[in-house]
Order: sequence, then structure tokens, then C-alpha cells
Amino acid sequence: MRIVHTIAALRAAVTAGGRPPAFVPTMGGLHAGHLALVHQARQAGGPVVASIFVNRLQFAPHEDFDSYPRTLERDAALLRDAGCDLVFAPDEAAFYPDPQVVKVQPDPALADVLEGAFRPGFFVGVCTVVLKLFNTVQPRLAVFGKKDYQQLMVVRQMVRQLALPVQVLGVETARAEDGLALSSRNAYLSAAERAEAPALAATLRALAAAVQAGRRDFVELEAGALATLGRRGWEPDYVALRRQADLGLPLGGPDEALVVLAAARLGKTRLIDNLEITP
Ligand code: PAF
Repeated sequence: MRIVHTIAALRAAVTAGGRPPAFVPTMGGLHAGHLALVHQARQAGGPVVASIFVNRLQFAPHEDFDSYPRTLERDAALLRDAGCDLVFAPDEAAFYPDPQVVKVQPDPALADVLEGAFRPGFFVGVCTVVLKLFNTVQPRLAVFGKKDYQQLMVVRQMVRQLALPVQVLGVETARAEDGLALSSRNAYLSAAERAEAPALAATLRALAAAVQAGRRDFVELEAGALATLGRRGWEPDYVALRRQADLGLPLGGPDEALVVLAAARLGKTRLIDNLEITP
């Protein structure tokens, strides 16, 4: 496995690899969820490229850009063992040699709600870096985790709207045995917080079960979940039942495919999770 740090070196290595690669974009701090993405990329055949780049554009000034886990050596070893062929790990000056003033503006209807409402500019940063990574790596396939459900939808829409020649594959959320969705930010949790953290997924499971049992009082269900988390010491940003198709508000029909999405702070750590609800 090779590690390259510049756009030019990446392009040369990809060209030498022959077939356009399958691509796994990451910000590092890798865990089993990322390795599952690499596994899916491998299954697709051909070379596998992963990127490790903590993208300042998707962090607000008060967020955790500086403290975000940077564990390049460990990440590289994990990627090597997972069968990755090439790692692109630029520093900021290599990836954004000039201030990135040209940015991608995703559809506000999809990108300014939920995560976008609580993290203004987040999806502009994500779309800009993902498009630039796609232009750099020129993959035929890109693999994203469904834990970042809205991100996956925003990226799919960008790919469709801009006719990018990339197939986007979404992979199920990897979870710890107690149900906690794997996340690089779990590393911030204290032991006591780690013990509490599975309550987020459990709250979503309870809400999903209520919907599956026929309840359609969505606003009350969301309020109940928010109250449960609040009582347990979380500070929730949102718990929202939405349509899988477009993250719009549910219409309430029995065949509607829904998803429940949540973001909540436990101590200083902001966690997100979601669960698809099959009708
Ligand atoms: O999901 C992530 O880790 C990031 O948002 C991504 C897609 C690598 C873009 O920086």
C-alpha cells in the first residue's frame, strides 16, 4: 500500500493503477465502520483508494477541528490490513493551496435541515471537499456510511445533479455490541459517557418500534424521545422522523418508508445516529 500526500502524486498513482478505483473518503480516526467501507470497496473489485483529510471547511469555528483525532500511522496500518491499495493523505496546504473560495452549494431543502440547521455551512464544506476529492481520485465507485444519513443523501443528490460519473454506495452503520454507532468522536467519551452512549440508539429503536406498531403521532413521539434523552443527561439537538425519500415530513401513510435521525450532546461530545423504519 502506498501513501501519497499531493494531488499530483495521487493522480500519477491512480493512473498507474489502470482501472478507475473504488474510493473511501475519510477524515481518519478510523474504526471498524470505516474498515467495513473499505471491505465493500474491495468487494467491488479493482484498486481501492482511501483518503484521510480533516476538512476544515466542514467545521464551524467553535467545533472540534483542532481536537479531531489525527492518527495517521495507526490509520495507515488499519487500511493496509484491510486491503487498501493507495492512501491519499494531503495536508491542508496540499489540498487547499489557495483559500477554497469556489464552493458547492447543495439544495437547501435537503442540506439546510437537521444537521445543516444545527451546523450551518456543514454540507457546503462536505460537498466541496467530496467533489474535489472525486475530481482528484476520479473513482468509478465511492463508498459512504449510512450513519451520516443526510450526508449520503446530499452527496447522492450532488452526484446526480452534476452528472458525476461516480456510483455512490451506502453501507449500513457499524455498531458496538451494545448498539452504539461507531464514530471517530466516540474517542472523546469518558468511561461514564461511553456507558451511557448506547441510550441514543436505544431511544431510536424504541421510537421506531412505536411507529412499526402503528403510531402516527410523530410530533409526540419525537417529543417523547427528546424528553427521554434530556432526563438521562443528554442535550439533544433534534430527534426527527422523516421520509427516507427526501427527508421531508412524513405524510403518515402505512407504506411510507421513514427514518428517524438524531443528534445529541453527551458532555462535550456531539453524537449522531439514525434508524431506517421499514413499513
Ligand atoms: O464522513 C466523513 O468522514 C466526511 O464528512 C467526509 C465524507 C470524508 C468529507 O470530509
